Amino acid sequence: MKISGIKVIYFSPTGGTKKASLKFASQIADKLCVPVENVDLTGMDARKGEYHFAGDDLVILACPTYAGRVPNKIEPDLRSILHFDGSPCIVFSTFGNRDYGTAPYELADIAASNGGVPFAAGAFVVRHAFTDKVARKRPDREDKAEMESFAEMAAEKITAANTADELDRIKGEIGPYYRPLKEDGTPAVFLKAKPLTTEKDCYRCGLCVKVCPMGSIDPDCMTVSGICIKCQACVHSCPTRAKYFDDPDFLSHVRMLERDFSGRTENRVF
Ligand SMILES: Cc1cc2nc3c(=O)[nH]c(=O)nc-3n(C[C@H](O)[C@H](O)[C@H](O)COP(=O)(O)O)c2cc1C
Repeated sequence: MKISGIKVIYFSPTGGTKKASLKFASQIADKLCVPVENVDLTGMDARKGEYHFAGDDLVILACPTYAGRVPNKIEPDLRSILHFDGSPCIVFSTFGNRDYGTAPYELADIAASNGGVPFAAGAFVVRHAFTDKVARKRPDREDKAEMESFAEMAAEKITAANTADELDRIKGEIGPYYRPLKEDGTPAVFLKAKPLTTEKDCYRCGLCVKVCPMGSIDPDCMTVSGICIKCQACVHSCPTRAKYFDDPDFLSHVRMLERDFSGRTENRVF
């Protein structure tokens, strides 16, 4: 089938999903000889828009895995603002070396219920947003080679099909959210945790206010008055490293990840 361009739609608070999905998009664009456009849905304002895609757009829908699923505060936005006119879609889930759970199936379901045809899915490891001791250098050279094979496979399927209707659809059961564990294996409960700020190190530059995907940080850079999804965008972006989490359960979960998931977890393509 004829593809006129690739549209990469991503949500990416700490940049791993953006980087990996754009790399993958460039690999598949080279094979199909078409241009790439980005739709960045990380900011709250961007998620207030409506986005329409044509039947000859090849869509890459990229999103991090949170608790084995699509982030629960973002999923309703993705379901309501994206409109596909039979567009072929590739689902691109990223995860932090623990487990992608059923996030790829959920993304595929979002694409399908919005009029898209999810015909390929990948789950790729990127650095864990909670700690740079887990998957810090991913995607690495090996990952990029795997993405390249995935791009080739997807490009072949698209080229061989006459219409998107001929493509086999990715479909699978969406499981429950993963419940994070502490080091001792008991549940880590940190839903209410919010970032704190070391006051003496904060120059009120406003970067954290700008990057928070939920728009939850007040202009004073200190008060978190809205919902915190623990994405770590504020922690990663702060130029003076003034932002941190001190919730004991959160910290214990991070130590568990560092202890149990420092080995290499493989990517998966569907
Ligand atoms: C709140 C939260 C929950 C996460 N849950 C998981 C998970 O269940 N499994 C996993 O392997 N990685 C998990 N991660 C790691 C992210 O999937 C990984 O860091 C992410 O893909 C980063 O995307 P970004 O750099 O585009 O923000 C979680 C990260 C956050 C912030």
